[in-house]
Amino acid sequence: MKILITAELPFDVESYLKGHEIDYNKAKPLSPKELIKRAKEVDAVISMLSDKIDKEFIDSCDNLKVVANYAVGYNNIDVQAAKERGVVVCNTPDVLTQSTAELGFALMMAAARRIPESERFTRSKKFKGWKPDLFLGMDLYGKTIGIFGFGRIGQAVAKMASGFNMKIVYNSRSRKTQAELLTGAVKVSFEDMVRKSDFVVITAPANEGTKHKFTLETFRQMKSSAVIVNIGRGEIIKEKDLVIALQNNMIFFLQDWMFTSLNLRSMRGFFKLDNVVLAPHIGSGSYATREAMARLCCDSVIKVMKGDMPENIV
Ligand code: GLV
Ligand code: GLV
Repeated sequence: MKILITAELPFDVESYLKGHEIDYNKAKPLSPKELIKRAKEVDAVISMLSDKIDKEFIDSCDNLKVVANYAVGYNNIDVQAAKERGVVVCNTPDVLTQSTAELGFALMMAAARRIPESERFTRSKKFKGWKPDLFLGMDLYGKTIGIFGFGRIGQAVAKMASGFNMKIVYNSRSRKTQAELLTGAVKVSFEDMVRKSDFVVITAPANEGTKHKFTLETFRQMKSSAVIVNIGRGEIIKEKDLVIALQNNMIFFLQDWMFTSLNLRSMRGFFKLDNVVLAPHIGSGSYATREAMARLCCDSVIKVMKGDMPENIV
């Protein structure tokens, strides 16, 4: 079978997939046109979250049987179009849950204790001696965390938060009783979550229901000291409103950044602000997790080609 892998993975996929024909793109990311060209005759694609797997792409691949997305999110894929053509779509759930939740925590702590700011300060040789009021921040201990989206990642964030003795509220479509028992989390309305929280962590998937869920109106309802951590997709927040809120010091914002969801121009605007911490979309970015994701993608492709149904079909 012929497999297209659209970017170089931190794992020896060539050995792992020995015996199969691999078109391995180790050069720069493929444009939509190049992607279609390269995938024309393949049976399987291991795609990145930055690849647009739309209807046009799916319709132009005659042999395609499976797309394994190297991500848990799959808003880059037209799943309906794939279904219609009998193409199976897989993602990488579970293996990245803890890493992504840990990054959420890392960002939250970075904001609370102003680590990026004090790092910039120290590195630029401004530190001339200890002072009692130097870079004072906030504790997480005892604070309220609001988790938007309470799936695997949201629940993992809750478990970590319970270790910090945080009060946990969450908003999601369904109630998660098991996780409530484990962490003391309480399901509340979106408005309540926004109003009560010192930290809001966004873990919900990007879809029609969550798009632009956070607007200026939302930011107005938040505590003036509130911190928002977005480890989901950028489009869950209305970008224009976010800029206004930040410029007016209404919130402190943390984003594990997605180029595809927020454009470079607005990103530059954020560079000037100290109440923003940015990361280049590294939520799942530990060695172990990125390797596990690669294995899972390869295994999924092999399973589907053998006629088995992997558990991680979306
Ligand atoms: C990363 O954003 C993922 O969806 O895995
Ligand atoms: C801080 O360094 C302390 O000793 O309290």
